Amino acid sequence: MKSLSYGRQWIDDADIDEVASVLKGDWLTQGPTVERFEKALADYIGVRHVVAFSSGTAALHGAVAAAGVEEGDRVLTTPLTFAATANVALYMGAEPVFADIYHGTLCMHPRKAEERLQELPRKIKAIIPVSFAGYPFDIEPFKFMAHDYDAVLIEDACHSLGGYRGNDHYGDRRKIGRDADMTALSFHPVKHITTGEGGAVATDNNVFARRLRLFRNHGITRTADEFEEKPDGPWHSEMQTLGFNYRLSDIHCALGLSQLKRLDAFVERRRELANLYRGHLSGLRGVYQPPALEGHAYHLFPIRVAPELRGALFAHLAENDVRLQVHYPPVPLHPYYKKRFGYKKGDFPEAERFYEETISLPLFPLMEDADVKRVVDCIAKFYEKSNPAA
Ligand SMILES: Cc1ncc(COP(=O)(O)O)c(C=O)c1O
Repeated sequence: MKSLSYGRQWIDDADIDEVASVLKGDWLTQGPTVERFEKALADYIGVRHVVAFSSGTAALHGAVAAAGVEEGDRVLTTPLTFAATANVALYMGAEPVFADIYHGTLCMHPRKAEERLQELPRKIKAIIPVSFAGYPFDIEPFKFMAHDYDAVLIEDACHSLGGYRGNDHYGDRRKIGRDADMTALSFHPVKHITTGEGGAVATDNNVFARRLRLFRNHGITRTADEFEEKPDGPWHSEMQTLGFNYRLSDIHCALGLSQLKRLDAFVERRRELANLYRGHLSGLRGVYQPPALEGHAYHLFPIRVAPELRGALFAHLAENDVRLQVHYPPVPLHPYYKKRFGYKKGDFPEAERFYEETISLPLFPLMEDADVKRVVDCIAKFYEKSNPAA
């Protein structure tokens, strides 16, 4: 029986050819394929700028730096996310603070976010909601909050590339990546497209884009009209801020360019598989399905079950070669955060309850319809065994 994990890449011959052609060329890094990838992704999303980074984490780090987050500032995010979303505030010497999720969306609750903004006396410089699992949460309240509290809105869309919000007043679908001041993306192999490791920030803002480009290249520019001092000669370059080497190579970008051609097909297949799960799971009592919304990008399909059964169900699926994950232990309840900031169980009841109940089922475009049926049959068998009278 084939082993199923919660996610995996889909690489085809066209991807391999595109990467091979860069390997045979002159530029392995800092070459033209980086710009080609950035331009193609910007066109796909419908934004002015995409700046590629070496990972989604590096992209988020770049975004908080470009937002001007500094030592002593605060950054507001959700407890239900991968640690990197909050860690990037720490990288800047700032303090991450959290607003609990709304159980109906699994994303940051706007009312709780507003409460945090009102009660915290120290400056919240950036707000980072996460489109968890690919769910395109209503971003409008967060735009108002960012405006009212003079914060920069950064969407962590590492789960939602290819999703959209819509339809707006004009009947337009707005691709994920267009709504926040900056949007961070990840190209890890379990994501919608992959470059191996990789990430990017999408933005319409010219100032943020320039800061992002500096930040990923040590703070160094070689662009003549950006120089602060008179050039020493045609070789002139200037380090203007402190940055990192967060560049994505041409090799990675070649894979990204090729994958991007299939992004819509990948997301469409994810939606089909999610719908299949919804159909098959609908008869199963005790299994709650994730929230649905038009434009969902379905990075994950996280079901909820009774917490006392979750461990045994997880083990039962593993015995049947269905190897899953749980997304996520709430970030503030990791030992590091508890020790450093004094967070404790009970601080984020909705995120904690979700964590105790959830398992992410396999969901990736290479899956066949029969794989979905196999996973659901396996879950059904578990319930028959654990509750034969039901
Ligand atoms: C919500 C979220 N943010 C950020 C990241 C970091 O992305 P990367 O692994 O590309 O560094 C991830 C990775 O899974 C993620 O799920």
